[in-house]
Amino acid sequence: MVDEITRAVEILKTAKTVAVLTGAGVSAESNIPTFRGEGGLWKKYRAEELATPEAFNRNPELVWEWYGYRQKLVLGCRPNPAHEVIEKMEDCFDDFLLITQNVDGLHRRAGSKKMLELHGNLFKSRCTVGRTILDFTLGDDPLPKCESCGALLRPHIVWFGESPDPMKIQLAVEHSEKCDVFLVIGTSAMVQPAAYLPLIAKKMGAKVIEINPKSTPITNDMDVSIRGKAGEILPEIWTKAGF
Ligand code: OAD
Repeated sequence: MVDEITRAVEILKTAKTVAVLTGAGVSAESNIPTFRGEGGLWKKYRAEELATPEAFNRNPELVWEWYGYRQKLVLGCRPNPAHEVIEKMEDCFDDFLLITQNVDGLHRRAGSKKMLELHGNLFKSRCTVGRTILDFTLGDDPLPKCESCGALLRPHIVWFGESPDPMKIQLAVEHSEKCDVFLVIGTSAMVQPAAYLPLIAKKMGAKVIEINPKSTPITNDMDVSIRGKAGEILPEIWTKAGF
């Protein structure tokens, strides 16, 4: 593994355009549960009852209750050293984009700005009828309404059966095509289109580096694959690269 870290350091030292894709694993050390694997949310809860448009139409109160619970959980957590290193990357490369599948907002709280939240944000809500999108934390009303038109609000999250904003996908693909280094951190690489982005980068000639305690379906496509926790490996790489 030391060799893999050294290789990652050498690659990053000469990088100019960098893309980072993160998943739930980057927040695991902040005590936010991942989705799959041991202790994962989809082991405990049924996605089809909580994270689909049909589930919301059937029982909006239950879906809001679940998102309210997740908001509370995240508010009790803090960004970890992985989020902090990723935030520092913004200023160290000529061109940088963080593409996150995470909805917990921890990258933003760590200070990241050059970022796309591909799957939305737990602390945003949108009108089910109009175009209103607002910063939102669930309060006493179990069925919150839009202030402009009175229609039901829904979490501003990309659910199963929905696609991310096409503009965000386009920006993510464009950056993946032009980057010279692509880091894949803490994702099981099971959900598209996110999982395909590192493969686009690889095809266009970028070096691709994965950081994850476990192997994933894209591990064999990586130039460097580091088995370990993001909150430990990223600070080590950062210190060794001397940025
Ligand atoms: P998953 O829960 O599918 O995968 C989390 C990954 O993080 C796994 O590969 C773990 O091995 C890895 N991991 C665990 N601890 C880690 C650590 N300390 N450091 C680094 N990696 C660690 O989460 P995602 O890949 O993010 O979608 O899942 C993708 C999407 O599926 C999510 O955005 C969500 C979910 O359904 C929506 O909600 C739309």
